[in-house]
Amino acid sequence: MKTSAPGKLMLFGEHAVVYGYPCIVTAVSERLYVSEGVPTQDPKFIEAAVKAWGKPGMNFSASSSFSGKFGLGSSSAVTVAALKFLRPMATNREIFDTAYKIILDIQGKGSGFDVVAAAYGGTLYYIKDKTIEPLAISDMPLIVGYTGIKADTVSMIENVAKKKKENPQKVERIFEAIAKLVEEAKIKMIGGDWERVGILMDFNQEYLRDLGVSTQKLEDLISAAKKAGAWGAKLSGAGGGDCMICLAPNDKQQAIRKAIEEAGGEVIDVDTDAEGVRIEK
Ligand code: MEV
Repeated sequence: MKTSAPGKLMLFGEHAVVYGYPCIVTAVSERLYVSEGVPTQDPKFIEAAVKAWGKPGMNFSASSSFSGKFGLGSSSAVTVAALKFLRPMATNREIFDTAYKIILDIQGKGSGFDVVAAAYGGTLYYIKDKTIEPLAISDMPLIVGYTGIKADTVSMIENVAKKKKENPQKVERIFEAIAKLVEEAKIKMIGGDWERVGILMDFNQEYLRDLGVSTQKLEDLISAAKKAGAWGAKLSGAGGGDCMICLAPNDKQQAIRKAIEEAGGEVIDVDTDAEGVRIEK
């Protein structure tokens, strides 16, 4: 038997989601596969999954169709896929709850948005400890550009926490503004108004810049995409590196991909709204 879980991309609301505000995340077509064997990847998460739901001596090997360097969420996907292997009949909710506990035990930080995407799949509106809402969307015209720099999520979360301590009112105001645009993005995504969703990405990026999590490289790729005709663009995830995303009309997609590469980025081909954890045939 083999199980698999998808990677994810944060579309809106990163950082704010850690403090109880909403975000929108999508599962991507790149998947992480788990089968019985010697652990080769993320052994800590596999061991913790076995400790939670397995028997001593059990072990899993993991392999992925994506590189861990992109920040697509390999630790959450491996944990979710291993739990599915151990209890194939468990509900997504049970898998999510147990996997999120494991991630928090090992990493100490995180909103669980990556775990929710790995377990449920699709595109989700998510509020920590409160809401998991699948969104019915179709054909998101998204392009993903990798900066070539692996971001350290935990230290980015810590940087924002420090900023919040120094200037709580300002940071709270930013989070509230992000939450407001997440609510609008949710409605416009369901309606397929990708042009407006792109503009909302631009707004979200401005707030992320104010939080201090963007970098020159991210800005270079974002402005290259915008100049080549994207409706809007932003970083995706913790910032400090990893990926940027943009939305663009079909007739501009080729030019944008080229512009991202010329600006030093790597375009990653992923489909969005992918299936959640599953048993492979
Ligand atoms: C990291 O990809 C997104 C953050 O919001 C952290 C999290 O939600 O766990 C920065």
